[in-house]
Amino acid sequence: MKQLKGPRTPGFVQKIQWSSDPIGYMDAAAQKFPDIFEAKITPVGNTQVLVSHPQAIQQIMTQDVKSEYAAPDGNLMRPVFGDESLLFQDPKHHLRQRKLLMPSFHGERMTAYGRAICNLAQQVSEELSSGEIFSARAIMEDISLEVILEVIFGLSEGERYQILKELLVYYSGVFQSKIFNLLLLSPSLQKKLGFLNSWQNFLHKRQQIDQLLYAEIKERRAKPDPERTDILSMLLLARDEDGERMSDVEIRDQLITLLLTGHETTATSMAWALYWIHYHPEIRAKLLKEIDRLGDSPDPMDIFRLPYLTAVCNETLRIYPVVPISGPRMVKESFELMGYEIQPGTALHCCIYLTHHREDLYPNSKQFQPERFIEHQFSPYEFIPFGGGSRRCLGAALAMFEMKLVIATILSRYRLLLADNKPVKPIRQAITLIPAGGVRMILQGQRLRQQMSQPVANPV
Ligand code: HEM
Repeated sequence: MKQLKGPRTPGFVQKIQWSSDPIGYMDAAAQKFPDIFEAKITPVGNTQVLVSHPQAIQQIMTQDVKSEYAAPDGNLMRPVFGDESLLFQDPKHHLRQRKLLMPSFHGERMTAYGRAICNLAQQVSEELSSGEIFSARAIMEDISLEVILEVIFGLSEGERYQILKELLVYYSGVFQSKIFNLLLLSPSLQKKLGFLNSWQNFLHKRQQIDQLLYAEIKERRAKPDPERTDILSMLLLARDEDGERMSDVEIRDQLITLLLTGHETTATSMAWALYWIHYHPEIRAKLLKEIDRLGDSPDPMDIFRLPYLTAVCNETLRIYPVVPISGPRMVKESFELMGYEIQPGTALHCCIYLTHHREDLYPNSKQFQPERFIEHQFSPYEFIPFGGGSRRCLGAALAMFEMKLVIATILSRYRLLLADNKPVKPIRQAITLIPAGGVRMILQGQRLRQQMSQPVANPV
């Protein structure tokens, strides 16, 4: 069998490269090792192997017996997500939780959330004034949080909603703090340096959130409302094969997990979509033509089915996938992958970014070309923004639905421009790739129907 190879640079240098310029690191490695390579970029496993060949990805995603998913930084993340989080369960418990959660995220359920998502997108954008420069990512974060509060938590007004919203803004941003990440990764420092406030503050806010969430769960259990369609209500009713329901702690931990996995990821992908659409005025014009054909107040499901909008969202998730590598699959027994022997203890990652930049699948891969998704149907191992297998993103259907509805709502109502004409580069934040600077845009004003499909040049 062949010997696995990878960049020769020492591990600590690779870690620095991965942190400071993940795209540069992956592109350089792929020049030499286009399908699979050994990397030294995270502390997970004895060694990490990044895979970008669709056949090998299929093998990894469908061979759960040989490798088992492990949450990134495993136990260290437990204080943030909670012990019962889906992320930390062994395969048996994970399957039980997925079965309880999945029906709420099924594509068909999305129809119930469509109108609410369009309204929230409109409400948040209405707060912008004409001529204002704003960060697309910040606005998308606001929309994405409102969607999570309403669609997942079932909260849209009242005192509890207001307080929880402020606390959740803090909670979903904890990974952005370098001090917090340092404390999280070094439990011994949590006690020693807890007085530095960051850790104490986190514990205090977590306690406040828990009080509010448990109060909400208790009230909903006491007074079930069959009219409710939010995901929390679905989870309270869900029963496993033995007729058991989820405990309050299990529900609390899943709610927090959904917030932390779904908030920034969706907001970032929507900000990238706005960037690409406005960077290419001809794409914006084509998209508007398609959206406008649906008339005033279109049905959200009709928006969802638009082919060019779908292609634009797919291309957005292809070119800079928000999550550039899948969660690690820890190898339990040695097996052969593409002629290489993979040793137990190895952390296997499907390299989503490099798969999406294979020239044999995506010619001119660095160019934003939505048409490639109209001309060709890619397999679930060639286009993998949401990972795959038993750990595939639980919120994929909701994320795609939200992305399309929010983009269509904003585009059809407002005239926006990029504030700078320079290309925006992706940078790494925690496990995601975000646009540097957040994509600065200018609101030019409301859109009139006759201006619809005219390409608008960006100011330089
Ligand atoms: C565009 C937005 C999103 C992207 C690009 C994305 C991407 C991903 C990826 C790559 C994974 C890892 C899959 C693997 O290792 O095979 C994942 C897992 C997950 N995502 Fe998402 N995600 C997005 C939005 C959401 C939303 C909206 C939610 C929920 C509200 C969500 C919930 C989850 C959960 C719970 C997991 C863990 C699944 C498990 O371990 O079984 N994600 N996501």
